[in-house]
Amino acid sequence: MKQSFFIKTYGCQMNVYDSEKIVELMTSGGYRQSSNPEESDIAIFNTCHIREKAAEKLYSDLGRISKYKENKIKSGSSMKIIVTGCVAQAEGDEIKKRNKSVDLIFGPQNYQNITDALEGKNEKYVYSDFLCADKFESLPIRNSHEISRLVTIQEGCDKFCSFCVVPYTRGAEFSRPVEGIFLEVKKLVEMGAKEVILLGQNVSSYNSNVFEDGIRVSVKLSKLCNLISNITGLERIRYLTSHPNDIENDLINEHYTNKKLMPFLHLPIQSGSDKILKRMNRNHSRNDYMNLVRNIKSKINNMAFSSDFIVGYPGETDHDFNQTIDLIEHVGFASSYSFKYSPRPGTQSSLKHPNVVNDNVSDLRLKKIQEILNKQQSEFNLKFIDKNEEVLFTDKGKKDNQFVGRTKYLQPVHVLCNRNIIGKKLEVNLESLTSFSFHGKIVN
Ligand code: 5AD
Ligand code: SF4
Repeated sequence: MKQSFFIKTYGCQMNVYDSEKIVELMTSGGYRQSSNPEESDIAIFNTCHIREKAAEKLYSDLGRISKYKENKIKSGSSMKIIVTGCVAQAEGDEIKKRNKSVDLIFGPQNYQNITDALEGKNEKYVYSDFLCADKFESLPIRNSHEISRLVTIQEGCDKFCSFCVVPYTRGAEFSRPVEGIFLEVKKLVEMGAKEVILLGQNVSSYNSNVFEDGIRVSVKLSKLCNLISNITGLERIRYLTSHPNDIENDLINEHYTNKKLMPFLHLPIQSGSDKILKRMNRNHSRNDYMNLVRNIKSKINNMAFSSDFIVGYPGETDHDFNQTIDLIEHVGFASSYSFKYSPRPGTQSSLKHPNVVNDNVSDLRLKKIQEILNKQQSEFNLKFIDKNEEVLFTDKGKKDNQFVGRTKYLQPVHVLCNRNIIGKKLEVNLESLTSFSFHGKIVN
C-alpha cells in the first residue's frame, strides 16, 4: 500500500506553484495525495512568513496535527510531519523547538530533496541552502489539464524594502534560464493550458540570456513574454509581481505590440506618502509612480492597475495615510490588496523604527482603505455593464450548465451554456454584477 500525504499551502501564488511541484514529486515517487490530514502518513505544511498572522497559523496547525500523530503512534502506526516554505527558511531549527513532532524542514529551494529525505537517505532534518538552479532543474511539472497555469520564472529579491522578509527567506534574485521556462510553458500548453501567469517576487527585474545566431543576447521580461507568445495554442500571458522602478519602455512596448500580453499590471506602491516611501526604502516617490502610470496609460489606454498597500507603517501619521488615499483616488485601481503593517524579525523596519502606530488606529485605517479600494473596484466594474468583453473560460460553475472565466482584467464572469466551453475564449455581453463577479451572455 502506497503511503499517503496531505499538503496545506499558505500565502502567495509562488507557494501554490511550489506545492504543485511537491505534489508531482511525491506522486511520481510513489506517494498518494490525500485530502485528510488525520489519516495521512505524511503531512506537509508549505508556509508563508510575510506577516505574523500567516506564520502563527502554522503553529496552531502544527498543534492540531501533532495530536493526530500521537494518536497514530498510540495505535501502532506512524506519521511524518514536514514544514516547507518561508517559515522553514526563516525559523529552521526553531520550528522543531516549538513543536517536537516536526520531522523534516525544507526552505523554498530545497524541495527536490524531500523524497530522498523521507527514504532516510540523509542524516539532516533541516534543509535551508539557497539552491535555486537545482530546484528548477529537478522538480517535475504537475500533470493537469487546467486552462490557467502558474510558472515561476524568477525567485528572490534584492530590493530590501525595509518591512519585507522576502530577501531573507527567498534569498537573492535568481532568474530561471529561458530554455527551462519555454519548455515548461510549451508542455503546459500541450496539456491544455491557454494562459500562463509568470511568477516571481520581482518579475520585472527578470534578466537572463539565450543564444541567437551563435551570440548570447540578454533576455528581459519583455523578450521572455515575446518568446513565449510564439507558442501556438497559448492565448494569454500575465506576470506578477512588478516593482515600479523596473518598468521600462521595452516592457510597455511589448504590451503595445503583443496581443497575448494582458493589459493588467499588478504594481505595488505600498504607500502614497513620500516620507513613508523613503522609510520603506522603496527608492521612488509618489510622483514617480503616478508619472509611470500616466506614461503607461498614454501608450496603452486600456491598461488596468492593481496594487498592494500597507497601513500603519511606523511613523505613519494621518497626513501620510491621507496621502495614500489621495494617490488611490488619483490613480484609480481595478483591484488591490491592503495589509496592516506587521513587524517581521530581522527586517530593517522592525529594528530601526520602533514607533509603532497604535493598533486601533491601524485597524481603522485598514477598514477605511479597504472601503475605498472596494468602491473603486465596483466603479471600475460598473463601466463594463452592457459591454462585450473577451472571456477565457477556465472552470465549471456551481450550477448546472454554468461556466466561469475571466476577462482580460481578471474579472470573474459566469455564463450559462449547454456545451462545454472550458478552454474557449469567447465574446460575452456582461449583463449584471454581483459583488465582484459578472453574469453574462455569450454573443458568438
Ligand atoms: N507587513 C504587512 N504587509 C507586508 N507585505 C510585505 N511585508 C509586509 C509586512 N511586514 C505586503 C506588501 C507586499 C505584499 C506581498 O505583502 O504589500 O507587496
Ligand atoms: Fe519584498 Fe517586494 Fe520589496 Fe522585494 S520588492 S523586498 S519582495 S516588497
